[in-house]
Amino acid sequence: MARQLTEGGLIGMFGATGDLAKRKLFPALFALYAQGLMGGRFAIVGFARRPLTVEQFRTHVADSIREFGRKAIISDEKINSFIQHISYCSLDSEQLESYLEHKATLESMEKKFQCEGNRLFYLALAPHLFGTVCGNLRESGWLNIDGWKRVIIEKPFGYDRETAVEMNAAVQTVFEEDEVYRIDHYLGKEMVQQIPYLRFANPMFEPFWNRDYVSNVQLTFAETVGVEERGEYYEKSGAMRDMGQNHMLQVLSVVGMERPTGLTANAVRDQKVKVLRSLRINKNVDTVSREVVRGQYSSGESRGHKMPAYRTEKNVDPQSSTESFFAARVFVDTPRWKDVPFFIRTGKRMPRKVTEIVLELKKLPEVWRTAARDEAIPGVAGPLLLRIQIQPEEKISMGIYMRDALQVGAFRESQMVWKAEYPANRELDEAYERLFWDALNGDSMYFARWDEVESAWNWVDPIEKTWQSLGSNGLEFYPAGSWGPSAADALIALDGFEWWTN
Ligand code: BG6
Repeated sequence: MARQLTEGGLIGMFGATGDLAKRKLFPALFALYAQGLMGGRFAIVGFARRPLTVEQFRTHVADSIREFGRKAIISDEKINSFIQHISYCSLDSEQLESYLEHKATLESMEKKFQCEGNRLFYLALAPHLFGTVCGNLRESGWLNIDGWKRVIIEKPFGYDRETAVEMNAAVQTVFEEDEVYRIDHYLGKEMVQQIPYLRFANPMFEPFWNRDYVSNVQLTFAETVGVEERGEYYEKSGAMRDMGQNHMLQVLSVVGMERPTGLTANAVRDQKVKVLRSLRINKNVDTVSREVVRGQYSSGESRGHKMPAYRTEKNVDPQSSTESFFAARVFVDTPRWKDVPFFIRTGKRMPRKVTEIVLELKKLPEVWRTAARDEAIPGVAGPLLLRIQIQPEEKISMGIYMRDALQVGAFRESQMVWKAEYPANRELDEAYERLFWDALNGDSMYFARWDEVESAWNWVDPIEKTWQSLGSNGLEFYPAGSWGPSAADALIALDGFEWWTN
């Protein structure tokens, strides 16, 4: 991100007084601005129901930046100049008249900041509103502009395949596929974006990135937080819809894809979707029960703190069978990965926040024997691992066996480590900054294309349907603060493996 925006643009932010806007979106836009990337030709108009004056809204934005922004780049001077680019409209997103009423505000902001008729709308809204809002954008004439139009939509992309299809159809009556940016913030994470570079820019990785050398692949997306204030949403979603359908399958597709013809949006997504289409579907109760473990946290303790059970959390049904954890054995039926299990797991209330991908290499045949006494050389123990840590650290480590210089005649496993480096004023996880920047520049490489979303639902739907039919049967409980139910260890142990992230 070293350039400046080459075109001006107006950003219309729906849900502008909501939590996401406060915690992520405004701090991200401010960070781009403070680093000089936005230039001066941009305007932001917030839309929400609340009757606020422009001044009140600007104060709200300034406060969010101070609270959630990157401290190293914040100054009063920069905040003050940033908020001059902001206006606000109290808008009922379901009422067409409301859009008509505010048309002039958009136009005057655009004129003032020379936005060149380009408009990007961010729908930080409940998904059931997407269709209505897109329809109103069109009917009100807000999209009759000289420049480009784009829309960013937040997950969840539907509740299942059917609702996703409906939602997508409604959005696509107004926006073309290449104007729709389905944001998945995991695709904005530094290490996820590094994977194609690691794989395809270095000739030594591709040769072993396949079934000949890799025995299994593991994805662990562990969180320490519980369901917090989001009980109502989470009860309907659970870990599979909240993390599995989107973040985890997206990352899996980047790990599993074939070499794209170039690092361009459609070339990369063409390869990712092939992986998603090749996921082996678990069609019935037997396969779902065998391949997928569903867990829910019971009360527990972590670092001396007592933690409540999921069922006693706010806005959660005391009999709830919603999963706060799942682990699955996934097969990608492509020649590269045929019969190599991908073990994926995610959970809330786990012992630490860690997101990691591990490629476990096959063990080499036992050829390492001393010539003199024909004995196995000590030291070669476990399999070698390639670990890509996405958070909390951003690093790649790779085990190598070398001769132990201190203990003659023995092996020693060492680690080759690469760590992401930033200038001093940068901090981890600027996913929203990267993705905003990409959307403003018309680059959708790190956004989910419709066919990817649909294919991911094809894998998720039969699992969800099975779980629904089973109710609480088969739901495994794990104490808050643990690594999930023992059934998840048993799942991976069936193939003779173990989880490496712990
Ligand atoms: C969100 C989920 O998409 O991702 C949350 O809705 C989850 O439940 C969050 O906590 C995790 O994101 P991150 O960036 O903190 O790993």
